[in-house]
Amino acid sequence: MRRLDQLLSSLGYCSRKEAQALCDEGRVLVGGQVLDDASRRVDPAQVKLDEQPLEFPDGLLIMLHKPVGLVCSHDAKEGPRVYDLLPERWQQRDPKVTSIGRLDKDTSGLLLFTDQGALVQRLTSPRHHVDKVYVATLDREPTPAMSEAFAGGLELVEGNERVKTLPAVLRSLGDRRAEVTLREGKYHQVRRMFTAVGAQVTALERTRFGEWSLGDLPPGEWRALPLT
Ligand code: URA
Repeated sequence: MRRLDQLLSSLGYCSRKEAQALCDEGRVLVGGQVLDDASRRVDPAQVKLDEQPLEFPDGLLIMLHKPVGLVCSHDAKEGPRVYDLLPERWQQRDPKVTSIGRLDKDTSGLLLFTDQGALVQRLTSPRHHVDKVYVATLDREPTPAMSEAFAGGLELVEGNERVKTLPAVLRSLGDRRAEVTLREGKYHQVRRMFTAVGAQVTALERTRFGEWSLGDLPPGEWRALPLT
């Protein structure tokens, strides 16, 4: 049970003050009855605002098919943002809705968003080794030697250091395309790994993140997932 005014403001519908105005206008129902006092404690699942149930009152997890050209940043100064593809109200939610990890501006594919901090931790922590699958289009055919190098771990330069990648699986899909499975997420990792074996990535799409696959979700669209 939560106070209605806190609930509506945490879900981005309005400020706590405005919640009382919504009640005064008779727009809030709880269990089918008009609620006139926004300070009352309510069961979020029983609340309707303008005849609609509240959106994801217990937290949200969604997958977006990120198109190329958008940045995974909250800051609009960095260019068109992935957040602009999500309902505007979500930007007012508290806890904040954020992407789980990031994709480069030029990378498309599966991007998860949630307001559950513990889930972000679990899925991005280097200790948990969640599988991420990418389809890369290259400037040449992938070779067995490249697969061996990916499997053995590659040295990448990071600042003044050299870091070794975890074993990764590279499978040729023909037609200069390769499927790559990583268990970590370093900056530009797929592109840098191909550069290290003498190939350039011309297009990159993430098709899977942990247990979630992109399937036939069209670019620019999102769908809700059950919270795990
Ligand atoms: N590897 C990359 O190079 N870019 C991404 O966006 C993700 C993985």
